[in-house]
Parts: sequence; C-alpha cells; structure tokens
Amino acid sequence: MKIASNLKNRKLKEWIAEICAWTQPSHVHLCDGSDEEYQRLAHELVKQGTFIPLNPLKRPNSFLARSNPLDVARVEEKTFICSQKKENAGPTNNWKDPQEMKNTLKTLFKGCMRGRTLYIIPFSMGPLGSPFSRIGVELSDSPYVVCNMKIMTRMGNKVLDVLGEEGTFIPCLHSVGAPLQPGEKDVAWPCNPEKTLIAHFPEERTIWSFGSGYGGNALLGKKCFALRIASVMAKEEGWLAEHMLIVGITNPEGKKKYFAAAFPSACGKTNLAMMRSTLAGWKIECVGDDIAWIKRGKKGRLYAINPEYGFFGVAPGTSPQSNPNALASCCKNAIFTNVALTDDQDVWWEGLSDPPAHLIDWLGKEWTPQTGTCAAHPNSRFTAPADQCPVIDPAWQGVEGVPLSALIFGGRRSDTIPLVYEALDWVHGTLLGCSLSSETTAAAVGKVGQLRHDPFAMLPFCGYHMGDYFNHLLSFAKKEQNQLPHIFSVNWFRKDAHGKYMWPGFGANMHVIKWIFERTEGKNNARKTPIGYLPKKEGFDLSGLSVSEKNLSDLLHVDSSLWQKEVQEMKTYLEKFGPHLPQEIRSTLEALKKRLADGV
Ligand code: GTP
Ligand code: SPV
Ligand code: MN
Repeated sequence: MKIASNLKNRKLKEWIAEICAWTQPSHVHLCDGSDEEYQRLAHELVKQGTFIPLNPLKRPNSFLARSNPLDVARVEEKTFICSQKKENAGPTNNWKDPQEMKNTLKTLFKGCMRGRTLYIIPFSMGPLGSPFSRIGVELSDSPYVVCNMKIMTRMGNKVLDVLGEEGTFIPCLHSVGAPLQPGEKDVAWPCNPEKTLIAHFPEERTIWSFGSGYGGNALLGKKCFALRIASVMAKEEGWLAEHMLIVGITNPEGKKKYFAAAFPSACGKTNLAMMRSTLAGWKIECVGDDIAWIKRGKKGRLYAINPEYGFFGVAPGTSPQSNPNALASCCKNAIFTNVALTDDQDVWWEGLSDPPAHLIDWLGKEWTPQTGTCAAHPNSRFTAPADQCPVIDPAWQGVEGVPLSALIFGGRRSDTIPLVYEALDWVHGTLLGCSLSSETTAAAVGKVGQLRHDPFAMLPFCGYHMGDYFNHLLSFAKKEQNQLPHIFSVNWFRKDAHGKYMWPGFGANMHVIKWIFERTEGKNNARKTPIGYLPKKEGFDLSGLSVSEKNLSDLLHVDSSLWQKEVQEMKTYLEKFGPHLPQEIRSTLEALKKRLADGV
C-alpha cells in the first residue's frame, strides 16, 4: 500500500507499514491537519450518521455525536500498565505481562481495520518548538477520533516537519475493533465493548487501545500519553506530568501569579480554570483545564505548560451562571458527544437551563421532562478549541511555560476536609496530595459517589508505582525549596445535615483563590492548626457572598475526631505501597497524628 510521500521519518514509515500489514485497512490517510481535511471528514461523518450537524445559525460548524451506550467513559478495569516487572506498575494499576498483553493485542488487531481507513495522526503535546513538547503519532481507524484530535492537539503537517527524518515519537495505536465485511453497512458508532483494552507499555513507550471510541480511551494524546506514558518519562527525566489545570490570577493591583490545581475527574478543573470571578477587581485567566507538564526552571522555580490545544469538558452542570466561559468556548467549531438535541437542532444538557418541553436524548429517543431519565449522559462532553475561551491566558502557548506560585489539591468530600487549608511545607504538602480522596463520578465507568483514595488525582493516570511517584515529588524538596510553590487543599463539596452543598462554589471559589494568593504573598491571614494553616475569620473575604457566618465556621472547622479517623484510614491505605512508601511520608503522617492528639 502506498503511503504519502511527505512521510520522511524512517521509524514512522516502518511502524506504519507493519501496522497496515497487520490490521489490513482498505485505505490509509495521512492527516495534514488542515481545516479542509476536517470539513471533509466531518461531511463523511454526517453521511455515515456519526455526526449530526447542529443549527449553523446557533452553533456554526458544530456537530453532535451519540456513542454506543456501552461506550460512554473511560474504562479503568480495562486499562493496563504493562511494565516488565509487575512491581513497577504498583498496587494501584492493573498489570499484565507485556509479552502476554502483546500476544492478546496482536490477535485482536489482526485484520481489525478491514473495510476501514487507517488515519495517520501526527500530533504534538505542547506548543511546537517548546522544550517541554513531545510528539506522538496516533494510528486510528476512527474519523471521529481524527476530528477530536484536530481540536485537542496541534496536529498534522507542521508536526511532521518538526519530527523530521530521525525525530522520536510515541506510537499510539487505536482501533474501534469493528472490521467491516465487504459490502457491510457501518453503524454510527463502531466499537467493541466486550473486547476493549487500553494498554500502556512504559518501557517501550507505546500505547495500544482497542475497542472504544470514547474520550480518554481513544484520544490517545490525552490521558494515555500526556499522563500515563508522560509520567514515566517525567520520572526518569526529572519533571512532572500532572492531572492539573493551570490558571493565571491577577489581583486588583495588577499583580499576576499562576496556580495549578489537581482535582479528580469531573471534580471542577474546567470550572476553576475559566471561572468568572464574583470578586470585583480579581481576574482569572486559563492556561489549561486538565493536564500540566511541569519542569524545574531557573532557581528551582517550577514552570508549567498545558500540553493540550483544546478542551474535552463535562457538559452537564455547565450553564451561563456556573461557567459562561466554557459555554463561549463551545459556541462554534465544537463537537458534542452524548448530549441531547433540541427541536431547533441545538444542544442541551442537565443544568444548562430549564428543561425544554421536547428533546431527542443522548440515546436518540424522544424525551420530555416527564420521561424521568437524563436527557444527556452524565459524562457527555464538548470538544472545543482552547483559543475560543474568552479568558484564555496570553501566555497559554508560551514555549517556556508559566511560573507556578501554588499547587492546589481537591476532591469531592461531603465532610471532614475544610473549604481550604495550606500545608506546612513541601513535604507536608506531598502528604496532603497523597491523602486526596474523592467520591467517584461518571467520568469513569463504575459506581458513582463511592469515596475512594485518589492520590494527587492521579490514581487512574500514573504510569508507574504510585509509591515511587510520591518519592519523585519529594525529590523536588531536596533542591532549592524556597522557590517551590505553596501547597493547598480545597473542597467545594462539603454538605450540611440535609445533604445540601454548604459552599456556593463556581465563581465564589474566587474568594478562596484570593486567600491562597495572599498566602503566597506571605500575608498573615491564617491560623495554624494541627492539619495546616486555615483562614482566620477576619482574613477571609466574604464580601458579596450569601454564606452565613455559621456555614463559614463549619467550612473552616477542623473536627479533631473526624481527622483522627481520616489519619487512621490514610495509614491503612498507605501501607499498600509497602517499601515504596517514602519514610518521610510515614513520619509526616505520624507527626500529623500527634498534632491532632495534642491539639496543636
Ligand atoms: P474532567 O474533565 O473529567 O477531568 O473534569 P473536571 O475536573 O474538569 O470537572 P468540571 O469542571 O467539568 O466539573 C465537573 C462537574 O462538577 C460539573 O457538573 C460541574 O458543574 C461541577 N462543579 C464544578 N465546580 C463546582 C463547584 O465549585 N461546586 C459544585 N457544587 N459543583 C461544581
Ligand atoms: C477525565 O476523566 O479526567 C477526563 C475525561 O478528562 S477523559 O478524556 O475521557 O479521560
Ligand atoms: Mn480530566
């Protein structure tokens, strides 16, 4: 089979030839990344029934896709880290022997692209020309994936130019796992849920994904490369690949600082990343909403880039009130997956507005408010170009990254964890990250609302032993510590006795960000407690908020007995990491336990 002549990279050509011979696609297409190519593919997807064009007057150049109902989110049970040694995957990852997994995959991939086109998708994670950036090439038989990758990554010819003849890239192989017999009619969302497997080979630095067309399972630049494989590269090369948003915060005096924040999936990163502040004079700008690559720069300061080029954001709950900037980001040139369709060919999801009288739901069925089911899938999403965000930061494509002044960790916790507190130092902050736990969400297949440990919001995304990851974070303290960002914990999700959120959240989170900003300035607005620094009442700006004094003091209360339970639970959990658990984490936890017992 003839492959385009502008493919110059030797390794890439060899790999493509090998995969074509094995998977047997009917056609091969090298993606140039142009708008014309996108239009052509979108048109084919419309013909195919995968894309429904949306009303061009309401949402220009935008499409709705409905997935197979069995393919709606990341599948953690079917995601594997196939390191040579089981121990290197650690106790939090699924592991399979690489040779065994390769054999299984080879059988699955044999002939799996028959009747389909294999798309060669060269992409860069990070701005072209940045020392942070890394190149990947995804081979996929899904044109839906190509369209999403065009929005989510820098993709096409310009990447091949950077790759050159001898450049290195991460091979990312993807198939929906649904070959077509000659003359067989395709379905709107081909996939193979029974046989889905997402496998990572950290030593080889390759990714093989089979059977799913959805999100992080299929857009391999995102979780598979930019987190799981990149975390392994980062460990070896002395940097960090984190599940973090990046924001620029400007105070009323015009001073600007950058923060990065790690929250588990569907716990508020996109919302915080582009929040509309309810605090006059304070400005927030978005560098990234999901992933940060962080490197040590001058004088030990940490610098971060967003390796992505677009947003793959949770639709439900996004409204003109909660996140107007996300809505503006997907007002055109967007792909929506698994949301509902309105009678005037626009999109709708729970929380956007009052429910319309009639919709077509995410399953393609008639829906009215009486139907009693969700019209949009809880993990329905929009794919939108980052530069359409009205508050995109001027430095978001900077090749050197932005300097970080704070790292923030947070999860969904209905009790125990206060609205905000600051760690005593980097090592204590590392413990704080290790201690993160959160209620599960619809972002991954499985039960929703189950409390689980999710260290650094990296549980599903760390490509190696989580205990070694803790060690890697601690290694940053061994260098110039005074330049390191301050570390904070936040919790927007505390509930009262009636199960109601106690904190208004969304734009009101700016009040918390303000306190954090001032802490990084060394402002004396905190009191020391056994768990760290908490806001002094008079040091926390409540202006314009309808939060009662009583709620605020509950939100900022350290309940010693709940915390002692928390620490005990933590101890049990951390034992899982055995000899990989850093001694410093063990002793810092012991010190916390003692401070709680002593009340100081
Ligand atoms: P991923 O893309 O899966 O990584 O999710 P994310 O961390 O970017 O979460 P996102 O900002 O999309 O928010 C997920 C859900 O949490 C949405 O339904 C939001 O409406 C809701 N949410 C976000 N921030 C807040 C908040 O401050 N308070 C409350 N109560 N809900 C919030
Ligand atoms: C997440 O689950 O954290 C996401 C969505 O950002 S996905 O790309 O599907 O992983
Ligand atoms: Mn995410």
